[in-house]
Amino acid sequence: MAVDPLIELRGVNKYYGELHVLRDIDLTVGRGEVVVVIGPSGSGKSTLCRTINRLETVESGTITLDGRPLPQEGRALARLRAEVGMVFQSFNLFAHKTVLQNVSLAQVKVRGRGKDDADRRSRELLDRVGLLAHAGKYPAQLSGGQQQRVAIARALAMEPKAMLFDEPTSALDPEMINEVLEVMRGLAREGMTMVVVTHEMGFARASANRVVFMADGRIVEDRDPEGFFTNPGSDRAKDFLSKILKH
Ligand SMILES: Nc1ncnc2c1ncn2[C@@H]1O[C@H](COP(=O)(O)OP(=O)(O)O)[C@@H](O)[C@H]1O
Ligand SMILES: [Mg+2]
Repeated sequence: MAVDPLIELRGVNKYYGELHVLRDIDLTVGRGEVVVVIGPSGSGKSTLCRTINRLETVESGTITLDGRPLPQEGRALARLRAEVGMVFQSFNLFAHKTVLQNVSLAQVKVRGRGKDDADRRSRELLDRVGLLAHAGKYPAQLSGGQQQRVAIARALAMEPKAMLFDEPTSALDPEMINEVLEVMRGLAREGMTMVVVTHEMGFARASANRVVFMADGRIVEDRDPEGFFTNPGSDRAKDFLSKILKH
C-alpha cells in the first residue's frame, strides 16, 4: 500500500531521568490507517501516545503531523491538541458541566465557534455516539461506557486529523466495552486515522491495518494483525500473547 503519511516519528528517544522510555522509535501512520499498539505494562505505549500530541517532549528525533514538525508552544500547540484528539482510560469529563457543555466547550474556546453552532455540532455527534437523549445530564449520571462515548464525541467535535486512544476500554465493566468499541469501529470504517493502545484483540483483528508490538521502549514488531496474532515473530510477542490469551 502506498502510504500517505499523516503521523511520522523518526529516531525518537525519550527519557524520564535515567529511564530510557522510548528507544529509537520509527513509526509512520498513514492517512486513514488504524494502528493498534500493544505490549506489556510499562513498555512505553502511553508515553508514545503522549509524545504524538506533545503532552511529553522528546530528547531526540523528529515527529511530524501532516508533514510539519510538532509545534513547541502557544496557539499552534493548542491547535495541535485539537488536531490530534486523545481519549484516555479515564474519561476526564468536567463533572460540573452537562454532557452538551462538555462537548461544546473546546469548540468555542479553541475553535472559536459560536455557541449555537457548537451546540448544533455537539448534538449531531452525541446522536452519532447514541447519547443525544442524555445531552442535559451530568457525567456522574452516566455509565462508564456512556462517559467514554461523550469523551470521544468531544474529541471529534474539534474535527481532528487523527485520534489517539490510550486503553479506552480498560476501566470499563465488560458489558460496556462493546458500545465503545462499536463507536471506534465506525470511525475506522469512515477512514479516521487512529492510533489505539488496546488489548482488545477482536478490535485489532477486525479494524487495524497494523499492529505495533512494544517492549522495553522499543517497537519490536510492526505488521499486519493476522500475521502478528497467528505467527508472532519475536519471543517477546509470543510470550505476551500467550499471557493475554490465557486469561
Ligand atoms: N511521568 C513519568 N515520570 C517517570 N517515569 C514515568 C512517567 N510516566 C511513565 N513513566 C515510566 O515510563 C515507563 C513507560 O510508561 P508508560 O508509557 O506509561 O507504559 P505503558 O503505557 O506501556 O504501560 C514505565 O516504566 C513508567 O513507570
Ligand atoms: Mg499505558
